[in-house]
Amino acid sequence: MNKNLRQFRALALLLPSLLATAQLFSISTQASNADEAGRRFVLTDLSLAKKLKFETLLNHDATGTVLVQLSEVQRDELVHEAHELKRCGGHELITKLKPDASVVEARDYARGVFKTFDAQLEKDRLYVESASQKKAEIGLPTIPSGPKNSITKAIAQVSESNLKDTVEFLAKYPTRNHKTADAKNAVIAFKARIEETLKFSTLPYTVDFISHTSTPMNSIRLTIKGAVAPDEIVVVGGHIDSINQSFFGSKKAPGADDNASGSANVLEAARIIALGTQPSRTIEFYWYAGEEGGLLGSAEIAASAKSAGKKVVGVLQLDMTLFPGDGEFRLGSMTDFTSLEMRDLLASINRDYLNITIIEDKCGYGCSDHASWYKNGFPTLMPFEATMKKKNGNIHTEKDVVSASSSFRHSAMFSKIAVAFLMSLAE
Ligand code: BES
Ligand code: ZN
Repeated sequence: MNKNLRQFRALALLLPSLLATAQLFSISTQASNADEAGRRFVLTDLSLAKKLKFETLLNHDATGTVLVQLSEVQRDELVHEAHELKRCGGHELITKLKPDASVVEARDYARGVFKTFDAQLEKDRLYVESASQKKAEIGLPTIPSGPKNSITKAIAQVSESNLKDTVEFLAKYPTRNHKTADAKNAVIAFKARIEETLKFSTLPYTVDFISHTSTPMNSIRLTIKGAVAPDEIVVVGGHIDSINQSFFGSKKAPGADDNASGSANVLEAARIIALGTQPSRTIEFYWYAGEEGGLLGSAEIAASAKSAGKKVVGVLQLDMTLFPGDGEFRLGSMTDFTSLEMRDLLASINRDYLNITIIEDKCGYGCSDHASWYKNGFPTLMPFEATMKKKNGNIHTEKDVVSASSSFRHSAMFSKIAVAFLMSLAE
């Protein structure tokens, strides 16, 4: 998808005079066909589709997700409307379907996705039932019943200055756009930084690049092998790429908040875990490539975990943790593309170790890498810097830098969540 071209078309729509000039140069056919140009299948939110009067090809009522086929101009309208409603991009382009795919093929694909949604919702339902059944049986809650000393001690080790150093380390690259050499360099340097950070660890760990077919950028994976159940895996990750989506101005994409912050949180959690005792289950830390290109790296990683039959017991996604839009220590937590049992675990982590405010909210579509795992049937969680309405407005521009409105105290909460999440699930 060529965002610049789409933005230019949107601009052209807003400036009829510009179009008139264009017609003078006899590109009028192209302009009048704009409605048909670049039609692609996308998944979006029912309320957005209704508002914009898009014809829906398939609906999933329980999640309010719909399949639509949209031209570039319509996708711009959708992005614009989503922005008005303080959502992010508002849709997910189905990259698996070629532009010339038929409606029948698209419906088949969407049916597959909706089936996984149903299976995930069924798991939520079963979780509610068995939890209350167990409660009745033994008179105890099934979530951790109180704080553990080892976890309290571990989360106290989260260092704000480590987070700041890592965010600045990543944000100094001109861009981490997944198609660029700068992104390649950032990933190579970050792998070295992980290795340096873990050099005193005595646990069995490996750090690898994961190459992809959908993006030239590599993801990075750090694996710490479990001592008791090495086949069972707990995942914590965030995307390491960035993007600049503005039409004018520089192409710089420091991506301090989106998502050097989450990447730094993952590294800080890894440092603390790697310097502790060996977990029972295997832990995988990911720094995903090409998220901004459409969840590219994580889509390949989660699909291959599914086809290899891997037992992934929980996935935590950290994407944007630096801007306390609702005030410090007031976090959002996405309820779509995430699992009830994981959100319950977050509530228990908050109760036992953090005592902050967590406000449930929605992206409205698969807005980050957790959606890749969720669509492949794995349980996911995505705490977020604020509610959607109050999120950082500078993301995807050259202004996404460390500034006076950044809070590493706020961001530190997410590494604490990651450490508690890992120690609760992997120990
Ligand atoms: N960090 C954003 C997602 C996000 C933004 C979540 C604001 C919550 C609030 C992510 O990197 C992103 O930009 N995602 C894209 C979608 C993706 C499929 C390309 C988006 O939201 O447009
Ligand atoms: Zn982004």
